Amino acid sequence: MSTRVVIGAQWGDEGKGKIIDLLSNKVSVVARYQGGANAGHTLKFDNTTIVLHLVPSGVFHDNTECVIGNGVVIDPLALLTELEEVRSHNINPEGRLFISESAHVIMSYHKVLDQAREKSKGDNKIGTTGRGIGPAYVHKYSRNGVRMMDLLDAEVLRTKVEANVTEINHLLEQLNCDEKLEANQIVKEMLEAGEKLKPFVCDTGLLLHNAQKAGKNILLEGAQGALLDVDHGTYPFVTSSSPTSGGACTGTGLPPTAITHVMGIMKAYCTRVGNGPFPTELHNEIGEEIRKIGHEFGATTGRPRRTGWLDLVALKYACRINGINELAVTKLDVLDAFEEIQICTAYDIDGVQTDQFPLELKKIEKVKPVYTALKGWNCDTTKITDKEALPQTVKDYVAFIETYLEVPVVILSTGPKRKETLFLQEVH
Ligand code: GDP
Ligand code: IMO
Ligand code: MG
Repeated sequence: MSTRVVIGAQWGDEGKGKIIDLLSNKVSVVARYQGGANAGHTLKFDNTTIVLHLVPSGVFHDNTECVIGNGVVIDPLALLTELEEVRSHNINPEGRLFISESAHVIMSYHKVLDQAREKSKGDNKIGTTGRGIGPAYVHKYSRNGVRMMDLLDAEVLRTKVEANVTEINHLLEQLNCDEKLEANQIVKEMLEAGEKLKPFVCDTGLLLHNAQKAGKNILLEGAQGALLDVDHGTYPFVTSSSPTSGGACTGTGLPPTAITHVMGIMKAYCTRVGNGPFPTELHNEIGEEIRKIGHEFGATTGRPRRTGWLDLVALKYACRINGINELAVTKLDVLDAFEEIQICTAYDIDGVQTDQFPLELKKIEKVKPVYTALKGWNCDTTKITDKEALPQTVKDYVAFIETYLEVPVVILSTGPKRKETLFLQEVH
């Protein structure tokens, strides 16, 4: 019996969708616990490519239940569109998808506000996905939020929306945004969406508790990544939720004692989309090559992702704050043609070397990465189907990561498809 949190160990887009889809045939329930439609989790199998934003990555396994937990912020319109896409692949979400009645709703005004705030920041913008994530969490914590259950109660919804719209119209004026919000239209649209989503809305905390009590395997799907965490990431260049493993408890209602495994997903190199510090970023042709070979363009916004060498200092920090006890290394194949691979093993800050990730923005921005060079493997790893057939250079690379991080690598991913995966250890 396992309750496994699967998290992004870097700045997001590590390949969580692929790994979670792959592991989903071993579990009864997959639950998202934070974030919203800012996530873009890509699944590839047979001739299908699908990017999931809100629907959990277990949806393509008929026997797996999918939960959108209370910690997620749900854009009902985006979710309805996504459900249509899922149905177009002959997947019926009815009876298999469960949406927390307590999850907060992303309203149209959150998206308007997100974009207006970014615009007003000019060069200092965070580079958000514009999906309304920050403003929705602000409303949740300031206790003005609309919850999924409110979409089923016209009176409560109207009262909340009217109060919020008055406030937000003032705010938009201050931000020099011409848009004027109209409560009636918003209420109408949300009641309609609520009606369509009603069959899925329930107490998902209880569902997860019962699944756990019955000895079922559960997978808790993180979105974004450890370094985008609002508490532990490169603040203020972060998202507004807790992608780290602690968020899996508050975001589902499962207690910390329920968690049996924390799997960190890491790319064989680093990427970041949006602004903020990135110590090993490459502004040269190697960075370009990684972007080209790895198709590093945002799954949600299509923006080019910034690229850089693997950063073990940042990963060690991610292992510490998440309690990662197993790792999956993805996109190994992207480095197949490199003669030499650089790995950052220390940071030089003002002439002093450290292996601790600094929390102060000014310090992170000053970091000069200290690299160790490893020999590349120079072979097509996508063709390797047996871990024993891995070249010694790949084994040395994996061992280097394991020794530094003191965590075993249990999965090596050598391509976007399910079958392009090597299990170095069994995952129960
Ligand atoms: P997520 O947000 O963590 O789920 O990751 P994304 O889906 O945003 O980005 C990961 C991208 O890499 C997707 O296009 C995946 O199809 C792709 N991918 C995942 N694993 C591998 C791999 O091992 N090799 C290659 N070449 N692509 C991969
Ligand atoms: P998945 O789940 C990568 C980034 C944005 C921006 C910052 C804040 O696919 O890994 P937000 O819209 O959340 O307020 O933006 O966070 N960001 C992501 N980067 N992958 C993601 O999700 C992301 N979700 C948000 O680019 O820098
Ligand atoms: Mg993504």
